[in-house]
Amino acid sequence: MKKFSAIVIAAGRGKRMRSKTTKALHPVAGRPMLWYMLTLARRVADARVVAVIGHQADRVRAFLDQSQADFEPFDVALQPDQLGTGHAVRQARAVLMPKGKAASKHCLIVNADTPLLSRATVQRLLARHEKEKAALTLLSTELSEPRGYGRVVRGEKGQVVKVVEEADATRAERAIHEVNAGIYVVDTAFLFKALARVRAQNAQGEYYLTDIVGLAVAEGRKVAGLKIPDARECLGVNTREHLAVVEEAMRHRIRARWLNVGVTMLDPRTTFIDDTVTIGMDTVLYPGVTLEGQTQLGSGCVIRSASRIVNSVVGKAVTIQDSSVVEQAVIEDYATIGPFAHIRPGAVLRKQAKVGNFVEVKNTELGAGSKANHLSYLGDTTVGKRVNIGAGTITCNYDGYKKDRTTIEDEAFIGSDTQLIAPVNVGKGAVVGSGSTITEDVPADALVLSRSPQVTKEDWAAKRRAKNSKKSSPAQKSSRGKKKGAKKS
Ligand code: UD1
Ligand code: CA
Repeated sequence: MKKFSAIVIAAGRGKRMRSKTTKALHPVAGRPMLWYMLTLARRVADARVVAVIGHQADRVRAFLDQSQADFEPFDVALQPDQLGTGHAVRQARAVLMPKGKAASKHCLIVNADTPLLSRATVQRLLARHEKEKAALTLLSTELSEPRGYGRVVRGEKGQVVKVVEEADATRAERAIHEVNAGIYVVDTAFLFKALARVRAQNAQGEYYLTDIVGLAVAEGRKVAGLKIPDARECLGVNTREHLAVVEEAMRHRIRARWLNVGVTMLDPRTTFIDDTVTIGMDTVLYPGVTLEGQTQLGSGCVIRSASRIVNSVVGKAVTIQDSSVVEQAVIEDYATIGPFAHIRPGAVLRKQAKVGNFVEVKNTELGAGSKANHLSYLGDTTVGKRVNIGAGTITCNYDGYKKDRTTIEDEAFIGSDTQLIAPVNVGKGAVVGSGSTITEDVPADALVLSRSPQVTKEDWAAKRRAKNSKKSSPAQKSSRGKKKGAKKS
């Protein structure tokens, strides 16, 4: 018989969060809380894993579908009405007690709102349960401020007697600082037998999972406990305040992970890294850097202050200067970006490409060694290799109804302040004179200019000055007028 199955109860709404989003889907360091609990359950269990869902079940199911590779195989059980934690666990019966027989000897049960719980702790809990040959083993910790948690009531010999919810606790019980973490290992057959006996006669009118502790004791079965000193692992997120505490602790953990494999952070506290991100060795992160989503950052990169990279693949030795945003882009080795650049979805910067100050790039490929260094917009454009895009170049890709593409072939030179009206093609090695508006294709190796010829009038300015020297200029007049009327301060 398999040893451990697992149940993650995630059907509750989380009223105290005051949110339109169900609690289990609230993200911590870029992943829903449920993700952490379900991956943990899947890693420690050798038998089936069941997620009990209910509130916003469609949204939760959509998340499970989308991330299923991370916790396969698993089952989903529905708790249509959220009648309490005991009622939630009961919904897993059909999966874990097929034909009335337990599919595994023991069952791990976890609340979905304790994402800081570590695998090592759960493994210790499972080991304790087996060693003690217990019917039920629960995880607990001491809190100086135990408010909101179920209290672990112990007898004279220190044995666990029951768990009492705060709403039902006597004054003396409320003074207990040992709290129930909501993480248990239970003999599977006993679990479902006991749950059938749980009644909702309590302050909240709910079927409490915690009642099975007292039931086990009453039946003379062994109840064991594992009390851990690190209270954060047991932190159950009920409010946004708890969420903020958990978020900070999780980010701290993620930073430690990357520091330990050779990533430098000048100010770890202001460096935000989602759990989904990967970073190569010897990459340096300056203060205020944010790395989000499915971002993969290569080795030897330098990311300067206040830059944010989202869902992007960045090669090695890439430099991103201060205050740049990179979203859903691919940045190849040795490219440089910023400061103040916006690299938008669909951007591909090939090797050694350079995008400089105040440049926006969208759905555009910038070929190897090509440069767009200043004040430009490149949208829906394919730029070849070693192309120079002059300052202030704009691709006019949108006519108010549809988008069109611009192509600029290898080694072309686009003079400053050029507008390229898409669809248009600039051929290989062509030169576009500064200030041009390009509406027609440019042949390879040609020079094109589309600006009005310069008019020069010798001495024109000097003559005008002489003629007007007696009179004051309109500007001088108005400033004098102001002075007259102005009060002295
Ligand atoms: C629960 C425990 C409490 C413990 C605390 C630890 C009970 C009765 N109380 O209280 O002893 O100290 O966790 O954090 O178990 N859920 C369902 N269906 C429901 C109700 C809840 O699936 O009908 C799920 C929630 O989604 C959540 C978990 O159960 O993941 C815990 O629910 P929550 O309301 O947060 O319980 P607590 O009041 O924190
Ligand atoms: Ca809780």
